[in-house]
Amino acid sequence: MSLIRLVYASESRLVDTCRSEELDRILASARRLNERNGITGFLLATDSAFAQVLEGAREAVAETYGRIGADPRHAGLKLLCEQPIAARSFPGWAMGISERDETTTFIFGLYGVTPEEDLQVQPLDVLLDLAGELAGPPA
Ligand SMILES: Cc1cc2nc3c(=O)[nH]c(=O)nc-3n(C[C@H](O)[C@H](O)[C@H](O)COP(=O)(O)O)c2cc1C
Repeated sequence: MSLIRLVYASESRLVDTCRSEELDRILASARRLNERNGITGFLLATDSAFAQVLEGAREAVAETYGRIGADPRHAGLKLLCEQPIAARSFPGWAMGISERDETTTFIFGLYGVTPEEDLQVQPLDVLLDLAGELAGPPA
């Protein structure tokens, strides 16, 4: 099976009052569907943006990205890469997540991700490095 990696960033449309419940909901459906579709990856979330890595078979990734792009909980999706890969970077994750909060803001900041310079203005390599660090070593 030929594997590809797709990375995009987007603007969050989640409102403060129900952000964590909505994130839980997103993650639950992402994991359920990704397990079925052989997708792995990692989602970075801040108060105003998302960045997500999707890995899997080309058709499965394209179908998943199409569905994600139609989701009104975010907007302005910017495709950063869609390229063949030899192996998955997040093999243990049907979808990992890290939200910028009190405990992770320091690590986001180390990679230059701040409220002023949020996920959607970051280059691809920064997003991949940050996701890799937050995901930790492969299970
Ligand atoms: C930021 C974000 C990330 C998402 N990630 C995934 C994902 O990795 N895989 C997936 O199938 N759906 C993902 N979704 C959800 C889809 O957009 C869509 O809501 C879901 O597939 C609908 O499934 P359900 O109505 O059966 O729960 C994501 C949505 C958002 C807003």
